[in-house]
This record gives sequence, C-alpha cells and structure tokens, in this order.
Amino acid sequence: MNRIASARAILAANDRGGYTVPTDRLYPFQWNWDSAFVAMGWATFDAARAWREIERLLEGQWEDGLVPQIVFHAPSDDYFPGPEVWGVEHTPPTSGIPQPPVLATAVRFVLERQGPAGIKRARATYPKLVRNHLWWERARDPERSGLVATLHPWETGMDNSPAWDAALDRVPTETTTEIRRRDIGHVDAAFRPRGIEYQRFIHLVDLFRETGWNARRMLEISPFKIADVGTNAILLRAERDLLALAEQFGDGGECAAIAERIARKETVLAGLWDEALGHYLSRDLIGGHLIPIRTSAGFLPIFAGLHGRAPALAGRLEGWRDRGIALVPSTDPDAPSFEPQRYWRGPVWAVVNWMIARGLQEAGEGAVARSVAADTRRLIGDAGFSEYFNPLDRAGIGGEAFSWTAAIDLLLGEGEGR
Ligand code: GLC
Repeated sequence: MNRIASARAILAANDRGGYTVPTDRLYPFQWNWDSAFVAMGWATFDAARAWREIERLLEGQWEDGLVPQIVFHAPSDDYFPGPEVWGVEHTPPTSGIPQPPVLATAVRFVLERQGPAGIKRARATYPKLVRNHLWWERARDPERSGLVATLHPWETGMDNSPAWDAALDRVPTETTTEIRRRDIGHVDAAFRPRGIEYQRFIHLVDLFRETGWNARRMLEISPFKIADVGTNAILLRAERDLLALAEQFGDGGECAAIAERIARKETVLAGLWDEALGHYLSRDLIGGHLIPIRTSAGFLPIFAGLHGRAPALAGRLEGWRDRGIALVPSTDPDAPSFEPQRYWRGPVWAVVNWMIARGLQEAGEGAVARSVAADTRRLIGDAGFSEYFNPLDRAGIGGEAFSWTAAIDLLLGEGEGR
C-alpha cells in the first residue's frame, strides 16, 4: 500500500460509524481536538465523511455550548475514567471539560476545501460554533480579560506538560473515585503520565463533578487555574475562522462581536511573551506569574496570527534542527524537565507541528515551516503512524495506527500547512 492509502486505511479502520477513535483500545471514544484534525484529514478524500465527524462530535455539545473533551458514543472497558466517573447528564454521555477548540478552524477548512457543495452542512454547524465560542467567554473568561482559563491539564490536550507541574502540586492527591488506569495495560508505563499525576487529574474530576458541573463554581474553586498559551492561541485562531464563517452565515451583530473578541485577544495573548526566555508562556492564574518553561505550545501564537515574534521563534527551531533534534519537541530539550519519551514532556506530536508549520508559513518563515513539515513527514515515514515520536532517536512511541497522525500525514503530503 502506498503512503496515502495507508493513512486513509487508518482512518477507515478507526471509524466507528461516523466518528473516528484516536486509536483502537487505548482511546475507544471520540475525542474533541483529535476529531477536528481528523475531519480535515477526511476532507482530503471524503468531504461527506469529514462533515459527519464534526456532526457526531457536536452530538456531545451541552445546552450551555460546551463541546466536551470526550463523547462516549458506545461503552468500552478499555478506558479510565469512563462516563460513570464523570457523572454528566447528557445523551450521548460525555466528559465534563473542554479541549483546545480547533473545531471552527476545521469547519472552515472542510468548507473551503469542498466548495459550494459544503455550504448546507457548514451553515447548519455554524450556530453551534457560535454557541461554543460564547461558552468559552462566559464559562472561562467571565470578566472578559481576553484570556480563557484552563481548569484541568486534560483540557489543554497536553496532559502532563512540565508547564503544569507547579500548579498541579497544589492539587491534593486524594480521590473519592477508585483509580483503575487502563492506559498502562495498553502501552509502556514509562511513556505515560505518572501515577501521582493521575491521582491529581482524578481529584479535579471528583471536585468538578461534586459541583454538578457548574461552570461558575468550577472556576471559583479549582486549585488548578492556568491561562494556557496553547488553548488561547488556538481559540484566537478559531475566532478568526469563525469570523470568516460569520461573514457568510451570520449577521452583522455576530461579526462585530467576534471581531471585538479578536481585537482583545490579540493584545492580551501578545502579553504572554517573556523577554527573558524569548518565548510565549502560560500564566498561572492563581499565582499570577508566567510559568517559566518553554513548550511547543509557546509557538502557537504564530498560528493565532501574531507574527511579530516569528523570526525569534523560528531561530530557536533552527537551532534545535541544526543539533539534530527532530522538530518540534513538546518541551525544550535543554530544560531539566525534558524527557524524550514521556508523552508531553518531550516527544513530538504531528498535530502541533501542523499548526506551527502553518503559522510559520503565514508569518513569512517559509524555510522553517518546511523544516517542521518535512521532519513530521520523515518521522511518520520512518517510524509509522505513531501517537508521538522521540525527538532524539526519532522512534515512534505510544499508540500505533493513530488517527490524527494519519490525518496530518494526509494534509502535509498535499502541501497543506506549508
Ligand atoms: C491524550 C492526549 C490528548 C488527546 C488524547 C486522545 O489524552 O494528551 O491530547 O486528545 O490522548 O488522542
């Protein structure tokens, strides 16, 4: 099978009926940002299936606009914590927290790719995206600071990033839920988050469930509260894409409201730049300080359209590349917390690379954008469609036959994002 056929075959094999699981067994449900990337991947060869992916994810949308991190379409014993731990009243069952909001970006992408034939389904999706973006503001930035808060590391999609360590230390390790991890039955524990991190992850779930998933209460009481540079950058990008959709499907009032949010977010996101580290950083909203650790999320403001720092950030990527490090390590390889194999503490993730490459390209840093895209393609070509990759020895790690890795390979293979 050639490469394109192999990538398509992974999406087809992970298709569970209109939604694509990230990979068999390890992640047996529909994940939010995975599906947004996967929809773009489907769009390269099956527009109808791309729309279905988006529509099935939105079956999980709550009354208040939240698009949850996980939609539990069908039961499975392969994953913890399942619907009974979340205790969310929704059909289909879902988790109770968000994930990075790539969805509006995906909808615009699928529509533009398909052309006029996609207008009907895009139009039907549009009001749900509007409600979702309003949720972000109401639930996570009620004071309209311009930065949304993250209350659980899982919301960032970068579960065990060292950027969360200090804030996570404030979270107690006791849980009312009995922890029965399934992930380490499927892949090597050395490549996964540690046990103590899991206890804190579940402590937060217990705490939020006890509020009845009340957004206002959660924001008040969470001992973990971060303005994640990744989530905020992805949201700003999504707002721009939503504005493009609003110009086609919305009214003047909606366009003005989105434009106003964009203007505010541009200013505030720029404030996450740290001169000393020469990087964009996340802010701890309890301590008030920037978290002094460079991660791959810190490149994402370029994807959000902030181009002023792109040359400096491109320079850092070139420096790593010239030392033989595969782009883009999720944690600065010179940081003491860097671990080349452990999930978000070092490994390379294809989806993050796609966003960074696209941002760099748009910012006029075409050469580095091509390096990031080429490295991604080489990693996948050599190691397979793994969940993530070791930036030092370039091995594929974690789950195999991974949907979003296949989707990104399809996009990069066509030159999308470069
Ligand atoms: C892990 C990742 C997250 C992803 C999910 C499914 O939890 O950290 O980003 O969405 O797996 O692939």
